[in-house]
Amino acid sequence: MYLITCAAIALFFAGCGFSGSKENNNRKMIEKQDVTVHDVHTYAKPEEAVVKHLDWEAEVDFEHKRIKAKASLTIDKAGDAKYIILDTKGLRIEKVALDDSPRQVTFTLGDRDQWLGSPLMINLEPNTSVVHVHYTTGDSAEALQWLAPRQTSGGKYPFLFTQSQAILARSWVPIQDSPGIRFTYTAKVKVPKELMALMSAENPTEKSADGLYSFTMNQPIPAYLLALSVGDLAFQPISDRTGVYAEHAVIDKAVYEFGELEEMVQAAESLYGPYRWDRYDLLVLPPSFPFGGMENPRLTFATPTILAGDRSLTSLVAHELAHSWSGNLVTNGTWNDFWLNEGFTVYFEHRIMEKLYGRDYSEMLASLAMQDLKKEVDGMIKEGNGPDTRLKLDLEGRNPDDGVTSIAYDKGYFFLRQLEESTGREVFDSFLKKYFTDNAFKVMTTEMFVTYLNEHLISKNGLKPMEDIFRQWIYEEGLPEEKPVPLSGRFDSVNQVLELWTGGAKIKDIFLDDGAGADGWSTHQWLHFLRHLPEGLTVEQMKTLDEHLQFSESGNSEILAAWFSHVVRHEYEPGYSQLEQFLVNTGRRKFLMPLYSEMIKTGDGKKRALEIYKKARPNYHFVSTNSIDALLNVTP
Ligand code: BES
Ligand code: ZN
Repeated sequence: MYLITCAAIALFFAGCGFSGSKENNNRKMIEKQDVTVHDVHTYAKPEEAVVKHLDWEAEVDFEHKRIKAKASLTIDKAGDAKYIILDTKGLRIEKVALDDSPRQVTFTLGDRDQWLGSPLMINLEPNTSVVHVHYTTGDSAEALQWLAPRQTSGGKYPFLFTQSQAILARSWVPIQDSPGIRFTYTAKVKVPKELMALMSAENPTEKSADGLYSFTMNQPIPAYLLALSVGDLAFQPISDRTGVYAEHAVIDKAVYEFGELEEMVQAAESLYGPYRWDRYDLLVLPPSFPFGGMENPRLTFATPTILAGDRSLTSLVAHELAHSWSGNLVTNGTWNDFWLNEGFTVYFEHRIMEKLYGRDYSEMLASLAMQDLKKEVDGMIKEGNGPDTRLKLDLEGRNPDDGVTSIAYDKGYFFLRQLEESTGREVFDSFLKKYFTDNAFKVMTTEMFVTYLNEHLISKNGLKPMEDIFRQWIYEEGLPEEKPVPLSGRFDSVNQVLELWTGGAKIKDIFLDDGAGADGWSTHQWLHFLRHLPEGLTVEQMKTLDEHLQFSESGNSEILAAWFSHVVRHEYEPGYSQLEQFLVNTGRRKFLMPLYSEMIKTGDGKKRALEIYKKARPNYHFVSTNSIDALLNVTP
């Protein structure tokens, strides 16, 4: 846990213990830190010594499911700092040395906290500039998912990927794992020679002959953006600066699905300024990846469940791309400010989609987001989690993952949209563009953002103060009375069909035998339809629905998941085997949680949920098992 309170370099030196020019000679200038950041999810004390560069040498051992590595950390330290503290979780520390000396130095590994892991405290010498930590990852390193060949589409080779956000980087690298601490990195990684290694850095496009790979990331990033993946991967370019990595069996599908990647990057740039990370590539992971996407710099990790075959789920790519500005350039200072990463990103995502596909399209996304948001807010308030419906969170003593709800995403989005609607798009866009430029490679807290808003949006444009609006959205529970109302004409025909139905019309008559009532509906229209089906459908009705509309045969994971939610709610037995197959093969938490939650509402359902989970659990990443264990009351 750390606190940086010094206002500027001068103050930093005077007030934070830098004792003079002698100690300063052999280290680089400490970066200007003009903010107060209090991160309760790190043990680091960067005011003593802070990591500036990581040089990582690692060997990936699939047989023992561990990584053996040396992390050489270049540090900046206060003149009289006697130690540096790193975050670790489950790492076996073998040896620590300083600079060029082969001599081992003493270190202490503190007690383990369930979420934070253990602080690694290393004693420094007066002139230390590099700390070398030799270590091996633990048996249950939470960021790492080791897949057996049968869990890949090739079926022949094992696979590894990492998921560091929010505070899991420390389970594979001893580092200062706080979003406000940025460092550059280089890496040398050895993997079995049949496999390719990729990182959130400059990447190869072909396998090396000897399984050795070198990486460079010259732009400073926080630890949660450290990423590694190793597998039997292929690369295909999409444009000069974009491309896709995937297993051989899915690469062609991925190339088609993401065919508009360059247009997306250009749309993003036209909104908020140049893409600052050189290349933008995607890595399509095996289905156990617990998220939809993860914005690892230069290389977004993505779930294969967005390969729908018709480019209908690519807003997820727009989202991860948008993080290249919101999150990766301007970074939430702590996980309590998570909405600054995600709310801005959802806003930006919708703007990219609007540019590419029009307002009616992006308004479908916004309408679905409002539906999710209202449902989640109601649920949280009912369960006594009202305080977590504030944008500014208090996650002290908790897993930062608890903050991953639609509050950060969608309430954050609607707050920014409210600002756009009150100031006008032109004014708001130039504000945002400046925000990303002024704060690039810096940290942002909610309080800093409010100050920035007052100065650069309100005062600068002579607008009337909006403190009340800020307070309601940021610090109050629930949703403000006055909020944006998304409206998409494309849902009109869906609503008409739903009305016909509730008015007593028969499914067969509405949709005819060829599904014509749906008139070429797109994925989001079908989702709106599925979400608004009346409650209490009979087995007969479910059967007719599926016969006519073939939901259970859908190749679209979002539609399938929405359909399965009805299968569970209506205890529709003919759907169970497909439901089970879906749950066993997909590790994406966003699909799993609602289905398991719905299942456990009845006694039989709970039994079924536990049976399925027993089979499925070995296929899931820690992020997903951690949530589902708690939901189902399973002790690992
Ligand atoms: N950065 C998040 C994923 C994340 C958040 C991982 C918090 C760990 C902790 C990523 O950008 C994200 O939001 N993914 C969403 C995509 C969606 C909102 C389009 C997901 O995975 O569903
Ligand atoms: Zn995101």
